[in-house]
Amino acid sequence: MTRSVGIALVGAGAMGKAHSLAFRTVGGVFDLPIAPRLEVIADVNEQLAATAAGHWGYKRHTKDWRSVIADPCVDIVDITAPNRFHREIALAAIGAGKHVYCEKPLAATLKEAEEMFRAAEKAAVTTQLGFNFLKNPMIDLAKNIIQSGEIGEIRSFRGIHAEDYMADPTTPWSWRLDSQGGGVVEDLGSHIVCMARHLLGPISRVCGSLSTVIPSRPTARGSTESRDVQVDDVAHALVQFDRGCHGTLEASWVATGRKMQLEFEVVGSHGSIAFTQERFSELQLFKLEGSQSRNGFRTIVAGPLHPPYGNFCVATGHQLGFNDMKTIEARDLLLSVAGIEHRGPDFREGYEVQKVIAAIISSSHDKKWVEIGQMGDSAAR
Ligand SMILES: NC(=O)c1ccc[n+]([C@@H]2O[C@H](COP(=O)([O-])OP(=O)(O)OC[C@H]3O[C@@H](n4cnc5c(N)ncnc54)[C@H](O)[C@@H]3O)[C@@H](O)[C@H]2O)c1
Repeated sequence: MTRSVGIALVGAGAMGKAHSLAFRTVGGVFDLPIAPRLEVIADVNEQLAATAAGHWGYKRHTKDWRSVIADPCVDIVDITAPNRFHREIALAAIGAGKHVYCEKPLAATLKEAEEMFRAAEKAAVTTQLGFNFLKNPMIDLAKNIIQSGEIGEIRSFRGIHAEDYMADPTTPWSWRLDSQGGGVVEDLGSHIVCMARHLLGPISRVCGSLSTVIPSRPTARGSTESRDVQVDDVAHALVQFDRGCHGTLEASWVATGRKMQLEFEVVGSHGSIAFTQERFSELQLFKLEGSQSRNGFRTIVAGPLHPPYGNFCVATGHQLGFNDMKTIEARDLLLSVAGIEHRGPDFREGYEVQKVIAAIISSSHDKKWVEIGQMGDSAAR
């Protein structure tokens, strides 16, 4: 009989829904030795928690996340609350011996990220972070192409994550805009930093530049009262990887017209690959071969030959969606909890990503290159 593990979800917002749908789907898509059991959902907004429990299938709801930590029916605490709560909830869960699934970025600061990573290592619990864009089969293909040497020696990386959900200055102030919300460098920058590390390995140094382009926002929609913005709206960084090559990273949440521009280009000596999340079932590949008058980028379309696409759909080009990546992420969490395979990204990777982010912030402040090796080990941001 399949063993089941109890889930406590903290935060019934957008990501709370994505995680819940993934837990409901994962056992149908994948053949797993353990099954998630939706035990309890916590949200400070009790009405929201009650409605979400009904819609998403949790047995119980509460407005106090602390009450779920010691609950013997709970094996995994899933944190989809705003960033500033990640540390407190995760440390409490780890202290109670629970596995932790947490949305990105790992924490609001590098110091917190280090504390969380070290606590999880010490307690030897499974951790999983919500860097779901890594879970796309086309990203596995991109990584295989890079690692196999198919496009030769890697010469540069260009990565961006730009959206426009904060481009309108009348968009009200929200938790993402206080100092612990982290700014765009943490919100979207963490995704492109993690992607860059996933594809090309560790980053050794950065030269960052952060800017705030909308310095205050209404406290609520239509309000004449305003509140100062304490974080960056746009982040740029020159980066150098441990492997030697250089690159650029950019993050913006005021990129008018851009909805999901998580894009990268990896340039090698014998070819290049290009990817955009807006067409994430495709990978562009260029190879230096054949007649120069005929070569160019070609489009590889995702299908069952790119696992685990085939678990969702038998036909090529029929496309996966955002929630499917969350389902793959939930599979990876459950495989790790079952002790079968640990794919991550886990709290260690979240800590490494946070070091790069802290270095970009520090570099922008001090107007100089910063070595990643100087960050972390309690060199708090
Ligand atoms: N992986 C991704 O692609 C992705 C996308 C969006 C957001 N995120 C991350 O997910 C997390 C949540 O973001 P969101 O967009 O779902 O936010 P959201 O504002 O939609 O939802 C957050 C929920 O948390 C609840 N909450 C706030 N404080 C709480 C507390 N102390 N205890 C319990 N509940 C509390 C709020 O009431 C709200 O329902 C953030 O860390 C964010 O960075 C990840």
